[in-house]
Amino acid sequence: MPDFSHAIARRARLRGGEELAAILAGSPPGVLSMTGGFPNPATFPTDELDAIAAALLRDDAAVALQYTPVAGLSSVREYLRDRIAGEQGGRPGDDELLVTSGGMECINLLCEALVDPGDAIVVEAPTYLGALMAFAAAEAHVVPVPMDADGLVVDALEERLGAGLRPKFVYTIPEYQNPTGRTLPLARRRALVELCRRHGVLILEDVAYRELAFGGDPLPTLWSLGPDVVVQAGTFSKSFFPGVRLGWACGPAQVVAELVAAKGNTDQCAGALGQMLLERYGRGGGFERHLPAARALYGAHWAALSSALERCMPEGVTWTEPAGGFLTWLTLPDGLDAHALRADALAAGVAYVPGRPFHVDRGGASSLRLSFSHLGEADLEEAVQRLAGVVRGALRAPPVRS
Ligand SMILES: Cc1ncc(COP(=O)(O)O)c(C=O)c1O
Repeated sequence: MPDFSHAIARRARLRGGEELAAILAGSPPGVLSMTGGFPNPATFPTDELDAIAAALLRDDAAVALQYTPVAGLSSVREYLRDRIAGEQGGRPGDDELLVTSGGMECINLLCEALVDPGDAIVVEAPTYLGALMAFAAAEAHVVPVPMDADGLVVDALEERLGAGLRPKFVYTIPEYQNPTGRTLPLARRRALVELCRRHGVLILEDVAYRELAFGGDPLPTLWSLGPDVVVQAGTFSKSFFPGVRLGWACGPAQVVAELVAAKGNTDQCAGALGQMLLERYGRGGGFERHLPAARALYGAHWAALSSALERCMPEGVTWTEPAGGFLTWLTLPDGLDAHALRADALAAGVAYVPGRPFHVDRGGASSLRLSFSHLGEADLEEAVQRLAGVVRGALRAPPVRS
């Protein structure tokens, strides 16, 4: 077999991603996995999709199986603008929205459009691994800003901007953040938009989990508070199904035009079949029929996980309390390293994602991410018992460091 390692681009080596590959690869049989932030297949609306797909192929194959304009089918864009108006209060203009092939694509397109090597991008510490990989591949200078229990510390960002930092954008996940599950309160949302407006800095708002609140109304989006300074990356991966690979980007027309140009140079358009499926499903009231059950399912999973953590975890272990989404962030007592304990956890039959890859500076050694989207309530209870056993064992042993 010839060796092509000499042909691999420098950029490809910057990306990293071994951790993400490990998450996506799944876990050995018998291991209860709390790794992937995948939606639960029980939430997939298969009953409705069957009929919609059959009708599309029967009556609209010439459009559904064809290429679409780069920004998306006009009826689908119209639907998304209506939906955003209903959900978020503001209505993007025709030139302020494009259909993307998922949330991750929007992140990549913004890098393609705005980021030259060495440009600064501000991120929350910790943040979504896929975004960090995209920023690394864009050769950005990634600047972490701390979070507290209420998400991004806007005052800390203000200090950095005041000291002269000029990032191309600030990347934030305001609801049920990946990986911490935290939510940015309204006052901080307003302060963040105001601050960025003052400094002429764009915000990239990732709303991947926004529609999955366990209860109550979600807070206003950053885009609705500042459509002049916010690009919103939306995805249907969590609220519809990820197999469709669909999302949206809305923001200032000048930036959206650049995103459309960048998309023309990558996949050219999101798949027409998926776009039409989504539009018919959405216009037919599919989200209203199905989302309440999805929210209830994830809420019940969180309730089971949270009560198991309360009962089983030794003193000194803490975790976040998400109000929606799939994820909680657990911190081990000082001296314990989540990466080093991973092998013991796997041997005990439980898998998690160690916290370090979510930090640019590889901090967060004592943290780990647990996803509760997939396992049912009984398995979550069992997984926590296994994990608690591993933590207790490590506390009895000399400190483990990797
Ligand atoms: C915060 C966040 N943004 C974006 C994505 C990617 O979404 P998509 O599947 O639409 O590319 C994910 C997926 O896990 C995510 O957690």
